[in-house]
Amino acid sequence: MPEPQRVYLETYGCQMNVNDSEVVAAILKQHGFVITHEASGADVILVNTCSVRGNAEQRVLGRLDYFRQLKKKTPSLVIGVLGCMAERMKEQLFDKNNAIDLVVGPDSYRLLPVLIHRSKEERGVMHTLLSQQENYEDILPERLSSGGISAFVTIMRGCNNYCAYCVVPYVRGRERSRNPQTIIAEVKDLVSKGYKEVTLLGQNVNSYRWEDPSGKTLTFAGLLGLVAEVNPLLRVRFATSHPKDLSDDILQVMAGYANICKSIHLPLQSGSDAVLRKMNRGYSSEEYMKRIEAVYSIVPGCTVTTDIIAGFCGETEEDHQATLNIMRRAGYDYAYMFKYNPRPGTYAAEHYPDDVPDEVKTRRLNEIIALQQELSEKNKQAEKGKIVEVLVEGPSKKSPDEFSGRTSQNRVVVFPRGNSRPGDYVNVLITGYTPATLTGVIR
Ligand code: 5AD
Ligand code: SF4
Repeated sequence: MPEPQRVYLETYGCQMNVNDSEVVAAILKQHGFVITHEASGADVILVNTCSVRGNAEQRVLGRLDYFRQLKKKTPSLVIGVLGCMAERMKEQLFDKNNAIDLVVGPDSYRLLPVLIHRSKEERGVMHTLLSQQENYEDILPERLSSGGISAFVTIMRGCNNYCAYCVVPYVRGRERSRNPQTIIAEVKDLVSKGYKEVTLLGQNVNSYRWEDPSGKTLTFAGLLGLVAEVNPLLRVRFATSHPKDLSDDILQVMAGYANICKSIHLPLQSGSDAVLRKMNRGYSSEEYMKRIEAVYSIVPGCTVTTDIIAGFCGETEEDHQATLNIMRRAGYDYAYMFKYNPRPGTYAAEHYPDDVPDEVKTRRLNEIIALQQELSEKNKQAEKGKIVEVLVEGPSKKSPDEFSGRTSQNRVVVFPRGNSRPGDYVNVLITGYTPATLTGVIR
C-alpha cells in the first residue's frame, strides 16, 4: 500500500468558502487522502480563494509565493488554487506563479482526486467549468474548523443578481437550490453529533426555491421552518439576505420559532437612490427602509447588520450623506465596510469610470466606520443590565478562564466560565462591553 497523500487546505473569504473547503476535505477523504493541519510536511497544498476585492487576491498571491519556497525544498509538492480566483484568473495563475500545478473552480471539486493525480504527470492542470446543477448535495462536509458546536449548511449556490460592482455571478455561476431532503438530513446528522447551531448559507438565501416532482414549491420561508423544526434546541441562522427578496413570510417564520436567531444580515451597499440604481441593486433607499421597519416590527428585538461600499463610481458628497443617513435610521448592530474596488469583467468596471479619488474614498469610509462605531456602541450600551441567553462556544481570545459565546442577536459575550461548558446555553447578566464584545457574568 502506498502512503496516503497528506493534504493541507487553507481558506480565504466568506463562510461559503469555509463550507466549500469542508466539502473538498470530505471528497478527498473518500478517495483516501488525509487532511493535515500543517503546511510543512504536506504532499498537497490547496488554497481556497476569494475574488471579491483586489486586496483579498493580493493576500492569496503573497501566500502562494511563500508556498513556492516550500516547493523549492520539496519538488514533489503539489500546489493547487481553488475557488473564486481559480475561476476568475484561470491560466493567468500559472503565469503569476510557476509553482502552481492545479487550478480548480468552485463547481469542479468532485474531480479533485483525479486532477491531483494528473498534476503529478502533466504541467498546469485546470478545470473551471461552471455548472447549472452542482450543489454537492450528497456530500457530508468534513467539519474542519468548527469546535463541534456551530456548523455551516449550504442551501443554494450562485447568484443571478449582477450587481454592477460584483464579481460573484461570474465566478460562482447561476443560482441553484439544494434538495431540501438532503439539507434536513445534514441538519439531523449535525444534531445527532451534538451541534447546537447551524447557519444556512447561500449567496442569496432568500432566493431559495425547490420544486418537487408534484409541482409544489418550497420557498426559503418554508425551508427555514422545516430546519427550525428539526430540534427546538438547535439554533438556526442564515446568510446572506438580499433586501429585495426578504419577504414578510420569512420574517414571520423567524418570529414564530424561538430557535431561529433574531439577527439578519441585510447588505445596504449605499443609501443613495442614484447609486443604488447604478449598482443595479433592485431597491430604492425607501424600499430598503420599509424592509428594515418590517424586520423591527415583525421580529421584535432583531438586530440588523450590513455591508456598505464607499466611493462607488460617480458617488457625490450628497450620495455619501444619504448612506450615513440610512445607517442612522437602520441602527445597524455591525457593518462590513469597504472602499469600492473595480473588479475586472464586472459591469461597473467596464462601463463606469472609477472616478472617486482614493483619498475621498478613504475619508468617506472613515466617516462610515466612525458612525458605525457610534451605532454599535449605542446598541451595546442598551444591553447593560439585561440577562441574555448565550450559547457557549469556547475559551475567549484573551483568557482560558473566560468563555465566549453569542446571543440570538449574534452579539459576542465574554464572561467568567464558572461551571459552564462549550455547547451549553447559559443566562448572562450584561455588565459592560469592549470595542468588540459584551461582557457579563453567568446568572
Ligand atoms: N468593491 C468593494 N466592495 C465590494 N463588495 C463586493 N464587490 C465589491 C467591490 N467591487 C462587498 C459588498 C458585498 C460584500 C461581500 O463585499 O459590500 O456585500
Ligand atoms: Fe454580488 Fe449582488 Fe449577487 Fe451579492 S447579490 S453576490 S453583491 S451580485
